[in-house]
Amino acid sequence: MIKFDASHAMLTEDIMSYEEEVKRIHKMIHEKTGAGNDFLGWVDWINKYDKAEFQRIKEVANAVKDRAEALLVCGIGGSYLGARAAIEMIQGLYPKNKTEVIFIGNTFSSTYFKQVEDYIKDKSVVLNVISKSGTTTETAMAFRMLKQMMEKRYGKNECKERIIATTDKARGTLKSLADKEGYQTFVIPDDIGGRYSVITPVGLLPMAIMGIDIDEVYRGLKDAYNDLNNDNLATNPAYQYAVCRRILQNAGKDAEMLVAYEPQMQMVTEWWKQLFGESEGKDGKGILPCSAIFSTDLHSLGQFIQEGKKVLFETLLLVDRPMMDGVFPYDEADEDSMNYLANKSLNWVNKMACEGTLEAHEVTGKVPNLIIHLNDMKEYTFGYMCYFFFIACAMSCYMLDINPFNQPGVEVYKKNMFKLLGKPTK
Ligand code: PA5
Repeated sequence: MIKFDASHAMLTEDIMSYEEEVKRIHKMIHEKTGAGNDFLGWVDWINKYDKAEFQRIKEVANAVKDRAEALLVCGIGGSYLGARAAIEMIQGLYPKNKTEVIFIGNTFSSTYFKQVEDYIKDKSVVLNVISKSGTTTETAMAFRMLKQMMEKRYGKNECKERIIATTDKARGTLKSLADKEGYQTFVIPDDIGGRYSVITPVGLLPMAIMGIDIDEVYRGLKDAYNDLNNDNLATNPAYQYAVCRRILQNAGKDAEMLVAYEPQMQMVTEWWKQLFGESEGKDGKGILPCSAIFSTDLHSLGQFIQEGKKVLFETLLLVDRPMMDGVFPYDEADEDSMNYLANKSLNWVNKMACEGTLEAHEVTGKVPNLIIHLNDMKEYTFGYMCYFFFIACAMSCYMLDINPFNQPGVEVYKKNMFKLLGKPTK
């Protein structure tokens, strides 16, 4: 369950004044009549996903996980961020897994690639290459280099069990190559774009290999589908969030900072930035999504938020129950004068930091704050949260009369880069 709290948002309009607009757009989403409507497969995915494929994900994950000291996940953007967000949120940053996950194919950095190559040279590896188009340059470059390295190490035959491709069901270079080499393949559905694809094999396979309970992820997704798929603005927290974003931008807040108090949520904030940034930032419109982890970033960005130009609002993504907790120790000598915290829980200190900061930013800094409460950082909550942000994002974009599901601006850099790289034109 997600609780949404707008009581610190200093709203200048009534949320309910958007009731009719929300009803109209909700209908548009469900009747698939809006712009980009052939990418609305995520809306009712939980009712129509391929059960046999879901089962096969679990089987393949079980089969490969014992042979992998390192799982290489090769992909970028929507073909990478969701899996990483899920794994870090659910397992924390230093899990006790036998398998370590390494993300690659998400940068052109030569140093990054060479360091990873060196790091895995004595490790048993399994590779999941993920690309819907099959032609994304960062991913394709890393994949070719890793494939050659693995074929040299294991031979082509064993690579059939160690390389898994997640891609389009029928088209594209990666699909043809995977079929030719005899790799296991999983499907990225035609009607789900990259940044909505974490709930498909794109996210599920890496999660399952890392030991995450994907049945629980889907239980959360299903409950969110049941809870949030209605046009009742008075009770639907996802649509309330979308409306508040609109009201705040109308009041001149052109940037939204998603703030978490748990370092393991950092990749969730990165995933969220892609979801909202790539969906909403077009036609000269949109709210700039940025993120911070507090209290860490209070020591860097805190000054700007408190006293800088009043361009932003904060959305706090708060976790009610941490994954772990401990007690701050008493010290007889108290030379560091920290005994005032003795015997307090570590999480309580984090919560007090949050409460104090909220008051400082809202009351003194006049920065509006929206609050999204998550119960915990478990599988169920992850699945639920994905749907919350998906449907809030679609609503936000349609309120601005924007197609949420394309990204025409991303192509501009690629065109220039291909020219410089001498890529042959067809
Ligand atoms: O959200 C998106 O559509 C993009 O971020 C893509 O996921 C990203 O560009 C990777 O594309 P592909 O999966 O085709 O390699």
